[in-house]
Amino acid sequence: MAPIDPLASGFVGVFDSGIGGLSVLQALRVEMPHERFIYWSDSAYAPYGERSDAFVIDRCNFITKQFFARGNVKSVVIACNTATAVGIESLRLQFPQLKFVGVEPALKPASGVSNTGRIGVIGTHATLQSARFAKLLDKVLADAAPDACEFIMQPCQGLALAIERQTANAHSGSQEVEELCALYLKKMGSFGHAPGQIDTLVLGCTHYVFAQDIFRQLLGPTVNIISTGSAVAKQTQRLSMDSRLEKTSKAVWGSDFLNEDQPQKSIELWTTGPLSALEKAAKRWLTLPPDCCHRWAPSSI
Ligand code: DGL
Repeated sequence: MAPIDPLASGFVGVFDSGIGGLSVLQALRVEMPHERFIYWSDSAYAPYGERSDAFVIDRCNFITKQFFARGNVKSVVIACNTATAVGIESLRLQFPQLKFVGVEPALKPASGVSNTGRIGVIGTHATLQSARFAKLLDKVLADAAPDACEFIMQPCQGLALAIERQTANAHSGSQEVEELCALYLKKMGSFGHAPGQIDTLVLGCTHYVFAQDIFRQLLGPTVNIISTGSAVAKQTQRLSMDSRLEKTSKAVWGSDFLNEDQPQKSIELWTTGPLSALEKAAKRWLTLPPDCCHRWAPSSI
């Protein structure tokens, strides 16, 4: 089958509170190499995990309106566990014509691979406290054999921001991130494969994928570390195939960003925070050149 022209067929919007969602974009690019993506890093408003629900919902709505205003948005990937937990239902109500794919901690896959039945889950406070997460947990526990698994939840305050800082200051080293990872793993208990030990760690925040090497070093080679990027990319791919058959409606909101006169590229990254931080992250994690990166600011238009 000939590749579909990404410029003619619209784009997939992807957003996160910051650079964490680039870990999902990595997986999306592998799964959908001919797709056109527009990524929004909401760094000026991060961390979502330490904000109120109302604040996160407002940001989710605002960002989605910006995607919509560009026209021909096929689907939106909420590349943020916190925004999914807090905002996806409201987004689906507000934008019924749009398809949303969210990310959530991979509890079910973790229960499938764990032998000891003890599974650690790290995420933001907002994600782990949310009603959506509680529902997911109940469902996974109900589907599992009685007493087959136990989840140990650990909110990691400050870790997402430390990962943002580390990426923005490429030369500052990873000491702060290493210390936080070590601290939170220690709080969860003992990891390993003996009965009673945690043998599986779920990364319930898209930022933490960028600390995966540190977690691996701390946990050793055999503890399972589970993230969701690839599953989310596969789901987006399925939805995207469907929406190619549909005609998406053009913007009804005015857009402050994404001027349509700009030449279209297959990947554009936008940030509400410092441009140089996004450029560093794009280069480091996606090997993308700086000219893919743009800064969004209402006053600059
Ligand atoms: N990347 C976001 C997530 O997956 C969280 C980071 C934040 O607190 O903003 O939950």
